[in-house]
Amino acid sequence: MGLKHEDKLKKLTLEEKALMMSGKNTWQTQDFLFYEITAMRMSDGPHGLRRQPDGAGDHLGINESMPATCFPTAATIANTWDVELGEEIGQALAEEAVTMGVHVILGPGLNIKRSPLCGRNFEYFSEDPYLAGKMAAAYVKGIQSYGIAACPKHFAVNSQELRRMAMNSVLDERTMRELYLTGFEIAVKEGKAKSIMSSYNEVNGVYANENKHLLQDILVDEWGFEGFVVSDWGASNDHALGVKNGSHLEMPGTGKTGQKEILKAIEEGVLTEEELDLRLDELLDVIHTTHMGLEVSRIEHRLDSSAMEWQGFSVEAHHALARKAAEEGIVLLKNDDNILPLQEKTKVAIVGDFAKTPRYQGAGSSLVNPTKEPESILNTIGDSSLHMVSFAQGYERNAKKNQKLIADAVNVAKEADVVLVFAGLDEIGEAEGLDRAHMRMPEAQEAVIHALADAHENVIVVLSAGSPIEMPWADKVKAIVHGYLGGQAGASAMLNVLTGKVNPSGRLNETYPIHYEDTPAYEYYPSKERNSEYRESLYVGYRYYTTVGKEVRFPFGYGLSYTTFAYSDIKANEHEVRFTVKNTGDRTGVEVPQLYVCLESDTVFRPVRELKGFARVELAPGEEKEVVIPFDDKTFRFFDVRTNTWEIEGGTYRIQIGRNANEIELKTDVTITGTVKEGPYSEASLPSYFAGDITNVSDEEYQKLYGKELPDGSWGGEIGINDAFCQFYYAKSILCRLVHKVLKSMLDRAIAKGEPNLDILFIYNMPIRGISRMTGGMVNMQMVYGITEIANGHFFKGLGKVISGFVKGIIS
Ligand code: BGC
Repeated sequence: MGLKHEDKLKKLTLEEKALMMSGKNTWQTQDFLFYEITAMRMSDGPHGLRRQPDGAGDHLGINESMPATCFPTAATIANTWDVELGEEIGQALAEEAVTMGVHVILGPGLNIKRSPLCGRNFEYFSEDPYLAGKMAAAYVKGIQSYGIAACPKHFAVNSQELRRMAMNSVLDERTMRELYLTGFEIAVKEGKAKSIMSSYNEVNGVYANENKHLLQDILVDEWGFEGFVVSDWGASNDHALGVKNGSHLEMPGTGKTGQKEILKAIEEGVLTEEELDLRLDELLDVIHTTHMGLEVSRIEHRLDSSAMEWQGFSVEAHHALARKAAEEGIVLLKNDDNILPLQEKTKVAIVGDFAKTPRYQGAGSSLVNPTKEPESILNTIGDSSLHMVSFAQGYERNAKKNQKLIADAVNVAKEADVVLVFAGLDEIGEAEGLDRAHMRMPEAQEAVIHALADAHENVIVVLSAGSPIEMPWADKVKAIVHGYLGGQAGASAMLNVLTGKVNPSGRLNETYPIHYEDTPAYEYYPSKERNSEYRESLYVGYRYYTTVGKEVRFPFGYGLSYTTFAYSDIKANEHEVRFTVKNTGDRTGVEVPQLYVCLESDTVFRPVRELKGFARVELAPGEEKEVVIPFDDKTFRFFDVRTNTWEIEGGTYRIQIGRNANEIELKTDVTITGTVKEGPYSEASLPSYFAGDITNVSDEEYQKLYGKELPDGSWGGEIGINDAFCQFYYAKSILCRLVHKVLKSMLDRAIAKGEPNLDILFIYNMPIRGISRMTGGMVNMQMVYGITEIANGHFFKGLGKVISGFVKGIIS
């Protein structure tokens, strides 16, 4: 069979091989030093390392980790549209990982931002798969250039946090390929990722971690993936089936539960020893290469970790990189009368609790313990050219509006020429495990902005939030600057933009709708019961707004500069598009031209605009440059459900160059021969999809798109091992209902306080089988079945199973 590590596989017993497929603890793989197999260490996460000391591991960011640079989160970096920067950050993450002995960095995260409400949007790149994929590939390349592995996550179709471990994403193959998998495809094919993390959810009825279609047909057979698949923490359902279908490692360790499942499956002939060997060989290969890579990098890059492990990298250099990244990620959304940049010595009043205690990252497994006290505006403004005349808190975080604080803010504003209000989302708005309930900012913050805008003519709002918010006050203020979540050096980056030291160049990675009700998935998100139906299909974000002409607050790709740019001279052939961009203002600046492509067709429905390329061009005043955006394998393709592969429809494509998704500056046409003459659909059978009018697709029409019977996601009334703890609400047993009550009240209390309780959130959304996975096997599956019996009202039968399971556990 040509196994690379046959020598080791021959030495390991079957039991040892089965054991290798589950973690040793929260972060490491098993080791067999006798056979020269050492443990491989994994660590979160996407915007900074979360390396926990041994013995204090948890996967939710609860216990403190070693200090690491907190870079801006993925959403912020995606605003830069700068793949070179992504690679540079990847390298810096790798340097830190190498000093901390980490072989696999669990990121980047690149799930599609289907709805602005997803609690983890701050950790993800974009609503667009092309942008998300390019940024992810850049991180992967950067990380892996140090010989260790990146782990793009969460594969796949994992765009909601509600019941994230117990929901089923239902979507047609074309939507899945074009929207939800393309980013991963780019990360795997271009980035050559050595590992990938399967998500918690099911995809069309099969858990991602045991989904042969995803893991074998697509990932390996089509994309040529050569690494290992790790389950999200606690995501593995039937581990033996996972191993059979292309998953390698179950994390965290489940004691001997996973091992036993594999041995049983082999005994019963469900899994063969050859299949196990093949998986283990693939896993051993990454263990081997990342160990070598780490050691080589330690020497080559002089990342000595002798004294304190985390001191090997340059804290200052990485802090400076975090600042540069934050600067590039800042998006100037509004700048009436060119109020920005602020002149030297401008008298400013600073309002807002965020100016004192910054919001610079989100909560959950991505939580980084920064190497330096995170900068705040109040701490850094002294180094800027501004003259701060006063500060007012303006609002209390996570509290109702406070008239006294508002009055104070209005009062201090009187002394200033300009009022800078720092606002956005409170901590509870951006946490793993919890989707937002609405898209509004906290009322207390909106109130102070309104009051200031009524009282002062020069109000500038500076936002911190990793996801879109409604801005009903937008027309009343002079300027809006969005810092997203800027990492540990975010405050000085913001001051550099406000004062013009840096000319803003960020462009939104996602659309800002006016109201949440305007969003395409409004009727479908999040799932009501088990199934989350992706009825809006391809019409996510700008693909929807541009197709139906719906007004938005700020379009995808939007962002202003302190200079201006003009576009001219478009030319295109089948291979590329060329055009000229000129800086028509008086400062050096960066423009981000975007290529959108479309074909009008009677047989393939398409949004009027889809991103297929972009560039970043820096221009001095008066300078012009010809920009070339090459076409690639994604420019004209669509996924054809008839041939089950990518095809190109022959026809005349519209090539559009825009400043953003709404402002198209140049257009031309290109005729492409194609691989098929026409597509599989017709307007008569899918009228909503051809019109883009997808907010209320009927069951009948959706079923036609889906191509088969729609699965019934309604809950049957009996609690099963794959139902989440939140469903104990319906339990027949008083005891279980009480458990639900306690969990729910703890959750509500945490939400009211504004501090996400990640432990409780995790348990609340965890399927009951998860107790076995997350207790390292202390609670075995027999006991889990017993618990469900109890929940369903069969107390004694259930208790019997729990007790006998417990006894069996002790004996074995
Ligand atoms: C998250 C992953 C993370 C893992 C380990 C899970 O709960 O979904 O993104 O990498 O924990 O911390």
